[in-house]
Amino acid sequence: MDYVTLGRTGMRVSVAGLGCGGFSQLGLAQGRSEADAIAIIRQAFELGVNFFDTAAAYGTEPVLGKAIKSMRREDVVIATKAPFSFSNPRSTPEGIVASLDNSLHQLDTDYIDIYQLHGVPPNAYNHALSHLAPVLLREKEKGKFHYLGITETAPHDLEHQTVQRAAQDRVWDVVMVGFHMMHQNARDRVFPLTRASRVGTLLMFAVRNIFSQAERLTATMGELAAAGEVPEWLAETSDPLSFLIHEGGASTVPDAAYRFVRHEPGVDVVLFGTGDSEHLRTNIASILKPPLPEDDRRQLATLFGHLVGVGLDAPHLSRPRPPRNS
Ligand SMILES: NC(=O)c1ccc[n+]([C@@H]2O[C@H](COP(=O)([O-])OP(=O)(O)OC[C@H]3O[C@@H](n4cnc5c(N)ncnc54)[C@H](OP(=O)(O)O)[C@@H]3O)[C@@H](O)[C@H]2O)c1
Repeated sequence: MDYVTLGRTGMRVSVAGLGCGGFSQLGLAQGRSEADAIAIIRQAFELGVNFFDTAAAYGTEPVLGKAIKSMRREDVVIATKAPFSFSNPRSTPEGIVASLDNSLHQLDTDYIDIYQLHGVPPNAYNHALSHLAPVLLREKEKGKFHYLGITETAPHDLEHQTVQRAAQDRVWDVVMVGFHMMHQNARDRVFPLTRASRVGTLLMFAVRNIFSQAERLTATMGELAAAGEVPEWLAETSDPLSFLIHEGGASTVPDAAYRFVRHEPGVDVVLFGTGDSEHLRTNIASILKPPLPEDDRRQLATLFGHLVGVGLDAPHLSRPRPPRNS
Protein backbone atom coordinates (compact mmCIF):
# COMPACT_ATOMS: atom_id res chain seq x y z
CA MET A 1 0.00 0.00 0.00
CA ASP A 2 1.06 3.60 -0.53
CA TYR A 3 0.26 6.17 2.13
CA VAL A 4 -0.20 9.92 1.78
CA THR A 5 -0.68 12.80 4.20
CA LEU A 6 -4.30 13.91 4.14
CA GLY A 7 -3.86 17.65 3.78
CA ARG A 8 -3.53 19.67 6.95
CA THR A 9 -5.01 16.88 9.07
CA GLY A 10 -1.52 15.40 8.96
CA MET A 11 -3.01 11.90 9.10
CA ARG A 12 -1.22 9.22 7.11
CA VAL A 13 -3.85 7.46 5.06
CA SER A 14 -3.84 4.76 2.43
CA VAL A 15 -4.25 6.06 -1.14
CA ALA A 16 -6.96 3.43 -1.56
CA GLY A 17 -9.94 4.02 0.73
CA LEU A 18 -12.79 1.58 1.09
CA GLY A 19 -16.13 3.26 0.40
CA CYS A 20 -18.89 1.64 2.44
CA GLY A 21 -21.68 3.27 0.40
CA GLY A 22 -22.18 3.73 -3.33
CA PHE A 23 -24.08 1.09 -5.28
CA SER A 24 -22.48 -1.78 -3.38
CA GLN A 25 -22.63 -0.80 0.28
CA LEU A 26 -20.03 -3.50 0.94
CA GLY A 27 -22.24 -5.98 -0.92
CA LEU A 28 -25.21 -5.49 1.42
CA ALA A 29 -27.08 -3.75 -1.43
CA GLN A 30 -26.76 -6.98 -3.46
CA GLY A 31 -28.06 -9.14 -0.65
CA ARG A 32 -24.72 -10.27 0.73
CA SER A 33 -24.57 -10.96 4.45
CA GLU A 34 -23.16 -8.88 7.27
CA ALA A 35 -20.43 -11.50 7.69
CA ASP A 36 -19.49 -11.05 4.01
CA ALA A 37 -19.34 -7.27 4.47
CA ILE A 38 -17.12 -7.64 7.52
CA ALA A 39 -14.87 -9.96 5.52
CA ILE A 40 -14.52 -7.29 2.81
CA ILE A 41 -13.47 -4.70 5.39
CA ARG A 42 -10.96 -7.10 6.94
CA GLN A 43 -9.56 -8.07 3.55
CA ALA A 44 -9.04 -4.39 2.73
CA PHE A 45 -7.29 -3.83 6.05
CA GLU A 46 -5.01 -6.80 5.48
CA LEU A 47 -4.06 -5.32 2.10
CA GLY A 48 -3.03 -2.08 3.83
CA VAL A 49 -6.21 0.01 3.56
CA ASN A 50 -6.57 2.12 6.70
CA PHE A 51 -9.20 4.56 5.39
CA PHE A 52 -12.89 3.68 5.58
CA ASP A 53 -15.68 6.00 4.50
CA THR A 54 -19.24 5.43 5.62
CA ALA A 55 -22.33 7.53 6.38
CA ALA A 56 -25.44 7.44 8.49
CA ALA A 57 -27.38 7.12 5.23
CA TYR A 58 -25.55 3.98 4.06
CA GLY A 59 -26.58 1.76 6.94
CA THR A 60 -23.04 0.37 7.09
CA GLU A 61 -21.84 2.06 10.28
CA PRO A 62 -22.72 -0.95 12.50
CA VAL A 63 -20.90 -3.38 10.18
CA LEU A 64 -17.84 -1.17 10.06
CA GLY A 65 -17.95 -0.84 13.84
CA LYS A 66 -18.00 -4.61 14.23
CA ALA A 67 -15.23 -5.15 11.68
CA ILE A 68 -12.79 -2.77 13.35
CA LYS A 69 -13.15 -4.52 16.70
CA SER A 70 -10.38 -6.85 15.59
CA MET A 71 -8.11 -3.87 14.79
CA ARG A 72 -6.43 -1.31 17.01
CA ARG A 73 -8.58 1.81 16.80
CA GLU A 74 -5.56 4.03 16.13
CA ASP A 75 -4.68 1.89 13.09
CA VAL A 76 -7.82 2.89 11.18
CA VAL A 77 -9.20 6.21 9.98
CA ILE A 78 -12.99 6.34 10.09
CA ALA A 79 -14.89 8.94 8.11
CA THR A 80 -18.65 9.14 8.40
CA LYS A 81 -21.33 11.67 7.52
CA ALA A 82 -24.39 13.45 8.75
CA PRO A 83 -27.39 13.12 6.45
CA PHE A 84 -27.87 16.54 4.94
CA SER A 85 -30.84 17.92 3.07
CA PHE A 86 -32.92 21.04 3.35
CA SER A 87 -36.00 18.86 3.27
CA ASN A 88 -34.71 16.70 6.13
CA PRO A 89 -35.74 18.05 9.51
CA ARG A 90 -32.60 16.46 10.94
CA SER A 91 -30.46 19.01 9.04
CA THR A 92 -30.94 21.46 11.89
CA PRO A 93 -27.96 21.95 14.22
CA GLU A 94 -29.71 19.82 16.86
CA GLY A 95 -30.50 17.13 14.30
CA ILE A 96 -26.91 17.02 13.05
CA VAL A 97 -25.55 16.67 16.60
CA ALA A 98 -28.06 13.90 17.29
CA SER A 99 -26.86 12.17 14.13
CA LEU A 100 -23.24 12.53 15.22
CA ASP A 101 -24.07 10.95 18.57
CA ASN A 102 -25.94 8.17 16.82
CA SER A 103 -22.98 7.53 14.48
CA LEU A 104 -20.68 7.15 17.48
CA HIS A 105 -23.17 4.67 18.89
CA GLN A 106 -23.60 2.76 15.61
CA LEU A 107 -19.85 2.59 15.07
CA ASP A 108 -19.38 1.70 18.74
CA THR A 109 -16.34 3.93 18.97
CA ASP A 110 -15.17 6.79 21.20
CA TYR A 111 -14.34 9.14 18.34
CA ILE A 112 -14.73 9.62 14.61
CA ASP A 113 -11.68 10.73 12.66
CA ILE A 114 -13.49 12.78 10.01
CA TYR A 115 -17.07 13.93 10.37
CA GLN A 116 -18.62 15.20 7.14
CA LEU A 117 -21.77 16.93 6.06
CA HIS A 118 -23.16 14.65 3.37
CA GLY A 119 -23.99 15.93 -0.11
CA VAL A 120 -24.36 19.65 0.53
CA PRO A 121 -25.82 21.41 -2.54
CA PRO A 122 -24.48 24.88 -3.42
CA ASN A 123 -27.66 26.64 -2.33
CA ALA A 124 -27.33 25.13 1.15
CA TYR A 125 -23.66 25.91 1.61
CA ASN A 126 -24.24 29.17 3.50
CA HIS A 127 -26.50 27.34 5.94
CA ALA A 128 -23.86 24.62 6.41
CA LEU A 129 -21.11 27.17 7.00
CA SER A 130 -23.00 29.59 9.22
CA HIS A 131 -25.36 27.38 11.20
CA LEU A 132 -24.01 23.85 11.23
CA ALA A 133 -20.21 24.15 11.21
CA PRO A 134 -20.01 26.30 14.39
CA VAL A 135 -22.15 23.80 16.30
CA LEU A 136 -20.14 20.88 15.00
CA LEU A 137 -16.85 22.56 15.92
CA ARG A 138 -18.09 22.72 19.53
CA GLU A 139 -18.72 18.96 19.38
CA LYS A 140 -15.23 18.52 17.99
CA GLU A 141 -13.87 20.34 21.06
CA LYS A 142 -15.58 17.68 23.18
CA GLY A 143 -13.55 15.04 21.35
CA LYS A 144 -16.38 13.43 19.42
CA PHE A 145 -14.49 13.80 16.15
CA HIS A 146 -11.11 15.10 15.04
CA TYR A 147 -11.59 16.77 11.65
CA LEU A 148 -14.53 18.37 9.87
CA GLY A 149 -15.34 17.58 6.25
CA ILE A 150 -17.96 18.25 3.60
CA THR A 151 -19.01 16.27 0.53
CA GLU A 152 -20.54 17.56 -2.66
CA THR A 153 -23.67 16.21 -4.28
CA ALA A 154 -21.98 15.49 -7.58
CA PRO A 155 -25.00 15.11 -9.91
CA HIS A 156 -26.45 18.41 -8.66
CA ASP A 157 -23.24 20.40 -8.44
CA LEU A 158 -21.53 19.81 -11.75
CA GLU A 159 -19.14 22.75 -11.35
CA HIS A 160 -18.17 21.81 -7.76
CA GLN A 161 -19.41 25.06 -6.24
CA THR A 162 -19.71 23.58 -2.75
CA VAL A 163 -16.20 22.21 -2.49
CA GLN A 164 -14.73 25.25 -4.24
CA ARG A 165 -16.09 27.41 -1.45
CA ALA A 166 -15.24 24.86 1.23
CA ALA A 167 -11.63 24.75 0.07
CA GLN A 168 -11.28 28.44 0.85
CA ASP A 169 -13.27 28.85 4.07
CA ARG A 170 -10.69 27.42 6.51
CA VAL A 171 -13.40 25.49 8.38
CA TRP A 172 -13.32 22.20 6.52
CA ASP A 173 -10.19 20.06 6.74
CA VAL A 174 -11.33 17.54 4.13
CA VAL A 175 -13.61 17.63 1.08
CA MET A 176 -15.06 14.83 -1.04
CA VAL A 177 -15.29 15.47 -4.77
CA GLY A 178 -16.34 13.60 -7.92
CA PHE A 179 -13.78 13.19 -10.69
CA HIS A 180 -13.32 10.56 -13.38
CA MET A 181 -12.23 9.94 -16.98
CA MET A 182 -15.34 11.62 -18.42
CA HIS A 183 -15.92 14.27 -15.73
CA GLN A 184 -12.55 15.92 -15.35
CA ASN A 185 -13.36 19.50 -14.38
CA ALA A 186 -12.23 19.17 -10.75
CA ARG A 187 -8.70 19.35 -12.20
CA ASP A 188 -9.10 23.08 -12.84
CA ARG A 189 -11.96 23.92 -10.52
CA VAL A 190 -11.05 22.19 -7.28
CA PHE A 191 -7.57 20.75 -6.94
CA PRO A 192 -5.66 24.04 -7.29
CA LEU A 193 -7.75 25.41 -4.41
CA THR A 194 -7.44 22.38 -2.13
CA ARG A 195 -3.72 22.16 -2.77
CA ALA A 196 -3.23 25.85 -1.98
CA SER A 197 -5.08 25.58 1.34
CA ARG A 198 -3.89 22.03 2.15
CA VAL A 199 -7.42 20.68 2.38
CA GLY A 200 -7.44 16.88 2.13
CA THR A 201 -9.31 15.35 -0.81
CA LEU A 202 -11.39 12.19 -0.99
CA LEU A 203 -12.15 11.12 -4.52
CA MET A 204 -15.48 9.52 -5.37
CA PHE A 205 -17.07 8.27 -8.62
CA ALA A 206 -13.85 6.85 -10.11
CA VAL A 207 -15.74 3.94 -11.67
CA ARG A 208 -19.36 4.07 -10.57
CA ASN A 209 -21.67 2.39 -13.11
CA ILE A 210 -20.33 3.97 -16.25
CA PHE A 211 -16.97 2.18 -16.14
CA SER A 212 -18.16 -1.03 -14.50
CA GLN A 213 -21.09 -1.78 -16.84
CA ALA A 214 -20.19 -2.04 -20.54
CA GLU A 215 -23.77 -1.43 -21.67
CA ARG A 216 -23.94 1.78 -19.62
CA LEU A 217 -20.75 3.03 -21.26
CA THR A 218 -21.89 2.25 -24.82
CA ALA A 219 -25.31 3.82 -24.23
CA THR A 220 -23.67 6.97 -22.88
CA MET A 221 -21.28 7.15 -25.83
CA GLY A 222 -24.26 6.86 -28.18
CA GLU A 223 -26.02 9.79 -26.48
CA LEU A 224 -22.88 11.90 -26.43
CA ALA A 225 -22.07 11.20 -30.09
CA ALA A 226 -25.66 12.04 -31.09
CA ALA A 227 -25.30 15.34 -29.23
CA GLY A 228 -21.99 16.03 -31.00
CA GLU A 229 -20.09 15.84 -27.73
CA VAL A 230 -17.74 13.01 -28.73
CA PRO A 231 -16.56 11.69 -32.13
CA GLU A 232 -18.89 9.26 -33.96
CA TRP A 233 -16.39 6.40 -33.88
CA LEU A 234 -16.82 6.11 -30.11
CA ALA A 235 -20.49 5.21 -30.66
CA GLU A 236 -19.76 2.69 -33.41
CA THR A 237 -18.10 0.13 -31.20
CA SER A 238 -19.23 -1.99 -28.27
CA ASP A 239 -15.91 -1.30 -26.56
CA PRO A 240 -15.26 2.43 -26.93
CA LEU A 241 -12.42 2.61 -24.41
CA SER A 242 -10.50 -0.33 -25.90
CA PHE A 243 -7.78 2.11 -26.98
CA LEU A 244 -6.74 2.19 -23.31
CA ILE A 245 -6.27 -1.59 -23.10
CA HIS A 246 -2.90 -2.65 -24.46
CA GLU A 247 0.50 -3.89 -23.36
CA GLY A 248 2.02 -1.23 -21.14
CA GLY A 249 -1.42 0.33 -20.70
CA ALA A 250 -4.50 -0.63 -18.71
CA SER A 251 -5.71 -4.20 -18.35
CA THR A 252 -9.44 -3.38 -18.05
CA VAL A 253 -11.68 -0.30 -18.07
CA PRO A 254 -11.95 -0.22 -14.24
CA ASP A 255 -8.16 -0.56 -14.07
CA ALA A 256 -7.83 2.49 -16.35
CA ALA A 257 -10.44 4.40 -14.35
CA TYR A 258 -8.77 3.92 -10.97
CA ARG A 259 -5.29 4.64 -12.33
CA PHE A 260 -6.56 7.77 -14.06
CA VAL A 261 -7.80 9.35 -10.82
CA ARG A 262 -5.08 8.01 -8.56
CA HIS A 263 -2.29 9.96 -10.24
CA GLU A 264 -4.10 13.26 -10.63
CA PRO A 265 -2.16 15.91 -8.69
CA GLY A 266 -4.33 17.00 -5.78
CA VAL A 267 -6.03 13.64 -5.23
CA ASP A 268 -5.28 12.15 -1.80
CA VAL A 269 -7.54 9.14 -1.20
CA VAL A 270 -9.25 7.25 -4.01
CA LEU A 271 -12.44 5.74 -2.64
CA PHE A 272 -13.57 2.52 -4.23
CA GLY A 273 -16.82 0.81 -3.43
CA THR A 274 -17.24 -2.94 -3.73
CA GLY A 275 -18.84 -5.98 -2.18
CA ASP A 276 -16.73 -8.34 -4.27
CA SER A 277 -13.54 -9.78 -2.88
CA GLU A 278 -11.90 -10.15 -6.29
CA HIS A 279 -12.80 -6.57 -7.27
CA LEU A 280 -11.33 -5.41 -4.01
CA ARG A 281 -8.05 -7.13 -4.76
CA THR A 282 -7.79 -5.90 -8.36
CA ASN A 283 -8.90 -2.35 -7.48
CA ILE A 284 -6.17 -1.97 -4.89
CA ALA A 285 -3.68 -3.39 -7.37
CA SER A 286 -4.86 -0.85 -9.99
CA ILE A 287 -4.59 2.08 -7.58
CA LEU A 288 -1.01 1.03 -6.83
CA LYS A 289 0.02 0.74 -10.49
CA PRO A 290 1.88 3.52 -12.37
CA PRO A 291 -0.01 6.24 -14.24
CA LEU A 292 -1.61 5.41 -17.59
CA PRO A 293 0.80 6.00 -20.48
CA GLU A 294 1.17 9.63 -21.47
CA ASP A 295 -0.41 9.08 -24.92
CA ASP A 296 -3.53 7.56 -23.33
CA ARG A 297 -3.88 10.39 -20.83
CA ARG A 298 -3.55 12.91 -23.65
CA GLN A 299 -6.21 11.06 -25.62
CA LEU A 300 -8.57 11.06 -22.62
CA ALA A 301 -8.07 14.81 -22.21
CA THR A 302 -8.67 15.44 -25.91
CA LEU A 303 -11.77 13.25 -26.20
CA PHE A 304 -13.42 13.91 -22.84
CA GLY A 305 -11.77 16.91 -21.17
CA HIS A 306 -14.68 19.20 -22.10
CA LEU A 307 -17.43 16.90 -20.74
CA VAL A 308 -19.16 17.74 -17.49
CA GLY A 309 -21.61 15.63 -15.51
CA VAL A 310 -21.31 12.36 -17.42
CA GLY A 311 -21.78 9.10 -15.54
CA LEU A 312 -22.75 10.58 -12.18
CA ASP A 313 -26.18 9.03 -12.10
CA ALA A 314 -27.63 6.88 -9.40
CA PRO A 315 -29.90 3.95 -10.29
CA HIS A 316 -33.30 5.04 -11.61
CA LEU A 317 -32.19 8.66 -11.95
CA SER A 318 -31.72 10.22 -15.35
CA ARG A 319 -28.27 11.52 -16.15
CA PRO A 320 -27.92 15.28 -15.99
CA ARG A 321 -27.46 16.86 -19.40
CA PRO A 322 -23.77 17.24 -20.14
CA PRO A 323 -23.27 20.91 -20.99
CA ARG A 324 -20.17 21.87 -22.92
CA ASN A 325 -17.45 23.26 -20.73
CA SER A 326 -16.54 26.65 -22.14
N1 LIG B 1 -21.80 12.55 -1.83
C1 LIG B 1 -21.16 11.58 -1.20
O1 LIG B 1 -20.80 11.78 -0.06
C2 LIG B 1 -20.83 10.29 -1.88
C3 LIG B 1 -21.45 9.93 -3.09
C4 LIG B 1 -21.05 8.76 -3.71
C5 LIG B 1 -20.05 7.97 -3.15
N2 LIG B 1 -19.47 8.34 -1.97
C6 LIG B 1 -18.40 7.53 -1.33
O2 LIG B 1 -17.54 7.07 -2.34
C7 LIG B 1 -17.43 5.64 -2.24
C8 LIG B 1 -17.16 5.06 -3.59
O3 LIG B 1 -18.38 5.09 -4.32
P1 LIG B 1 -18.40 5.06 -5.87
O4 LIG B 1 -19.77 4.72 -6.29
O5 LIG B 1 -17.82 6.32 -6.33
O6 LIG B 1 -17.43 3.82 -6.11
P2 LIG B 1 -16.74 3.38 -7.43
O7 LIG B 1 -15.53 2.71 -6.97
O8 LIG B 1 -16.69 4.51 -8.39
O9 LIG B 1 -17.79 2.34 -8.09
C9 LIG B 1 -18.15 1.22 -7.47
C10 LIG B 1 -19.06 0.39 -8.43
O10 LIG B 1 -18.27 -0.23 -9.40
C11 LIG B 1 -18.31 -1.66 -9.20
N3 LIG B 1 -16.91 -2.11 -9.26
C12 LIG B 1 -15.93 -1.80 -8.38
N4 LIG B 1 -14.78 -2.38 -8.77
C13 LIG B 1 -15.04 -3.07 -9.91
C14 LIG B 1 -14.26 -3.85 -10.79
N5 LIG B 1 -12.95 -4.06 -10.57
N6 LIG B 1 -14.85 -4.40 -11.87
C15 LIG B 1 -16.16 -4.18 -12.12
N7 LIG B 1 -16.96 -3.46 -11.32
C16 LIG B 1 -16.40 -2.89 -10.23
C17 LIG B 1 -18.92 -1.89 -7.85
O11 LIG B 1 -19.66 -3.10 -7.83
P3 LIG B 1 -19.11 -4.46 -7.10
O12 LIG B 1 -19.69 -4.46 -5.73
O13 LIG B 1 -19.66 -5.54 -7.97
O14 LIG B 1 -17.63 -4.42 -7.11
C18 LIG B 1 -19.79 -0.67 -7.68
O15 LIG B 1 -21.05 -0.87 -8.28
C19 LIG B 1 -18.76 5.23 -1.62
O16 LIG B 1 -18.71 3.95 -1.08
C20 LIG B 1 -18.92 6.30 -0.60
O17 LIG B 1 -18.10 6.00 0.51
C21 LIG B 1 -19.84 9.48 -1.33
